[in-house]
Amino acid sequence: MTAAPDGSLPLLASPLLLGKTAIITGGAGGIGRATATLFAQHGARVAILDMAGNAVSFADELGEAHLGVVADVSDEAACTKAAAHVIREFGHLDILVTMAGIVNPGGITSVAQEEYQATMRSHVDGTFNMCRAAIPHFRERRAGTIVCMSSIAAQRGGGLRGGVHYAAAKAGILGLTKAMARELAPDNVRVNAVCPGAIHTGKRNLADMNAQFAGNGLIPMGRVGMAAEVAGVFLFLASDLASYVTGATIDVNGGMHIH
Ligand SMILES: NC(=O)c1ccc[n+]([C@@H]2O[C@H](COP(=O)([O-])OP(=O)(O)OC[C@H]3O[C@@H](n4cnc5c(N)ncnc54)[C@H](O)[C@@H]3O)[C@@H](O)[C@H]2O)c1
Repeated sequence: MTAAPDGSLPLLASPLLLGKTAIITGGAGGIGRATATLFAQHGARVAILDMAGNAVSFADELGEAHLGVVADVSDEAACTKAAAHVIREFGHLDILVTMAGIVNPGGITSVAQEEYQATMRSHVDGTFNMCRAAIPHFRERRAGTIVCMSSIAAQRGGGLRGGVHYAAAKAGILGLTKAMARELAPDNVRVNAVCPGAIHTGKRNLADMNAQFAGNGLIPMGRVGMAAEVAGVFLFLASDLASYVTGATIDVNGGMHIH
């Protein structure tokens, strides 16, 4: 579904992903769960792809139409196998969301080489591997959309939770997103990125997070964001409402970083 000849777009009240299928990497994590839940509420069949074993139980919780796949996105062969499995089970794939990855603090001389490598592997290699696994199918169908998870860390040089290696990895994802958007636009495949600021996912106390990040005027909206507020942006970019949006970076940061 795209804009009608009179320019009108689908009603917001109707399900935005009816009949669509999606893979969400990191789908068993905080923002991943919120995104998977919202996609499912909007009619999509969702494959929760995560290295955590609870990917399967979470998919079961979502309902029998959904699928849990345990895989490490830094392993190219595992990504190829996982994508083929999902396409076989669902019959086709419309949406790839990449948000798997780890976050740790660390400075340029203090971060351990192993930590740097692990961060790059999960975020940059993981995004690269999963996109390469899905793109031949998207190209063949001349349809598909990818939404990649970056971070405000890529835009402002870290400074929240992640260290230099995390900022570098998230910046790498932004470059990858833009290059893929340019290359895949002729194939009718859209690729966009989301850059959240400080987001509450349930792991930490909300009041503590607000005191740390918002109490000092760092966030103009005066509060951290909620996982569901990031999920809404993924929904928009994955849906046909964004049919003419590619190569974009959408900030979800309460005004913390305004370009
Ligand atoms: N929470 C925030 O404030 C925030 C802000 C900006 C960006 N982000 C990004 O959003 C994404 C999700 O963040 P979250 O807060 O929900 O984190 P989270 O830790 O709750 O979720 C991350 C998920 O990724 C999975 N994962 C990690 N490495 C993997 C790998 N190699 N293969 C497969 N799965 C792997 C984990 O098992 C986990 O379920 C991350 O990319 C994070 O960097 C988060």
